[in-house]
Amino acid sequence: MYTILSIFGTRPEAIKMAPLVRLLKETNGINALTAVTAQHREMLDQVLALFEITPEYDLDLMRPRQTLTEITCRSLGGLEKILQQLKPDLVLVHGDTTTTFAASLAAFYQKIPTGHVEAGLRTFRKDSPFPEELNRRLTGTLAELHFAPTARARDNLLREGVPAESIFVTGNTVIDALSTTVRPDFTFPEPILNQIDFSRPVLLAEVHRRESWGEPLEAICRAFRRLVDDLQLPLLFPVHRNPVVREPVTRILGNHRKIHLLEPLDTASFHNLMQRCHLILTDSGGIQEEAPSLGRPVLVLRDITERPEAVEAGTVKIVGTDEEKIYSTARHLLETPEAYAAMARAINPYGDGRASQRIQEAILYYFDLRLERPKDFAPATQPANEAETPF
Ligand code: UD1
Ligand code: UDP
Repeated sequence: MYTILSIFGTRPEAIKMAPLVRLLKETNGINALTAVTAQHREMLDQVLALFEITPEYDLDLMRPRQTLTEITCRSLGGLEKILQQLKPDLVLVHGDTTTTFAASLAAFYQKIPTGHVEAGLRTFRKDSPFPEELNRRLTGTLAELHFAPTARARDNLLREGVPAESIFVTGNTVIDALSTTVRPDFTFPEPILNQIDFSRPVLLAEVHRRESWGEPLEAICRAFRRLVDDLQLPLLFPVHRNPVVREPVTRILGNHRKIHLLEPLDTASFHNLMQRCHLILTDSGGIQEEAPSLGRPVLVLRDITERPEAVEAGTVKIVGTDEEKIYSTARHLLETPEAYAAMARAINPYGDGRASQRIQEAILYYFDLRLERPKDFAPATQPANEAETPF
């Protein structure tokens, strides 16, 4: 029996690890356990509840306005004890948060191999996103197994000298998660969302990145307000719990008849909301991967992305954080049906709903519990029609 410890701490890691954790729990020969740092608390617990995951270990480390150093030090200290006691055969981490980096370093110090899920994403700019680009590069250096979501992510790793046999192209597990949450007859637990008329265009926003704190975030909010005022469209905005984000968002966008500032939504609600909204404005990583699958155009409120596949496919546009540019790009899309239609195509460059299965197979192969190496994920070359989407 091999013991695998999945370690994560924030909302997006939990959403993307949940399908894999659940699959590993059902896998013969594997004792699958979970440790959360709880770098996020409420936003993590929402995901754990939705996917019915009860972690065996919980460091409960979130503090208001925590610093990067605090998260790193507390994660390292707490994980050291768990790893020394449990001695797992493999640690799994996800993505690019400070928990990701600290967990892979903690495992390295105990000489425990790490598998990196969502490996190989790069902007090649240390400052953007900050500190995620360095977190994922450092994790890539520490890991033994690399689960790259796309062929491009694999190529980034190969260029850095990562051995080809340690890289598996799996698709992104976020598409596995999405395939379990989106339902045509979904009813929102939040009454306000059931009252919105989605037969008319509705805007959806989610913004939180560290490099946008301060003036860029204020410019983003001003652009949103002008769009709502000039086009008379409703804007739904579940606001991240970070007080550094909440303060400017509520100051600039609060008390407006057409702007609904919401608490962070449970993931099933958010996924179903994405499908009903017309245009998504965000700096989130995960949302850039989910929306193309749902055929929803995304304007990315950042200067650069580590997820260029959907940009190249034409369903995601990089807009930056300049107020005028956000306003004019969104307005043009909303007022030009041909421009909108060109972006609103369902494509699945990030996965087919079977990423967790490929990762499971790769782990079994690594432990010699399976003879064949799993086949790499390759996206469909044509835009998906309704019948071809994984859900
Ligand atoms: C973190 C990740 C970022 C990821 C984001 C997803 C790092 C450095 N950043 O950023 O990569 O995109 O999560 O959302 O790893 N808070 C709460 N309750 C919660 C969550 C957060 O109150 O459930 C507040 C706390 O005051 C906390 C603050 O938000 O101190 C910031 O949380 P933190 O995890 O440090 O940074 P994020 O901006 O959430
Ligand atoms: N999400 C959610 N509730 C919300 C907003 C977003 O569950 O109110 C989900 C979203 O569907 C995606 C993930 O959170 O799967 C993205 O997380 P986040 O934007 O916090 O982090 P990032 O992906 O930028 O690291």
